[in-house]
Amino acid sequence: MKNIAIFASGNGTNAQRITEYFSDNPNINVCLIITNNKDAFVLQRAKKLNIPSIYFNRRDFYETEKINDILKQNSVDLIVLAGFLWLIPLKLIKEFNGKIINIHPALLPKFGGKGMYGDKVHKAVIESCEKESGISIHFVNEKYDEGKIIFQKKIAIQSNDNLESLAKKIHQLEYKYFPQVIENMLND
Ligand code: GAR
Repeated sequence: MKNIAIFASGNGTNAQRITEYFSDNPNINVCLIITNNKDAFVLQRAKKLNIPSIYFNRRDFYETEKINDILKQNSVDLIVLAGFLWLIPLKLIKEFNGKIINIHPALLPKFGGKGMYGDKVHKAVIESCEKESGISIHFVNEKYDEGKIIFQKKIAIQSNDNLESLAKKIHQLEYKYFPQVIENMLND
């Protein structure tokens, strides 16, 4: 059995989608949903999905072994960042070398970096009059959105697209491709 831990800071629609995608898979399992935000809606989703969830604060994450220990105790094979806002500590990156991936709602290396999250990304893309956007799935290193890209998918931006319509299209791409990319990685 391959175990996935999902880190999410907010709504958690990707976390839900990934969990449901693997719910009937005998070999791949979402074993934990982890958040840095005790008010995140993803915690309610985890409860409904019957997946154990964990909240940690800044100190837990950057100054203790708490999260590392929990991941090891749960034999986690892959850490999936799905709308997670904090930088991953170097210690965790070393411990889970090549086993932490993130999804970003634009075509990296453009529109990435600190503070580029969710709608802020779409707003920047629209304001730059880009002709296309998309999703990027990449390995996580010690810098925001700079790890090696594993997968990208593009879509055209239409002249009548706005922040809301673009966000919706990007989410649809994420729901379709993110679980598949995870599955391919774990089946390799
Ligand atoms: C997703 O669109 C994800 O790509 C983005 O946050 C959203 C979370 O949505 N991540 C980033 O912007 C990372 N820089 P969700 O909570 O509904 O899954």
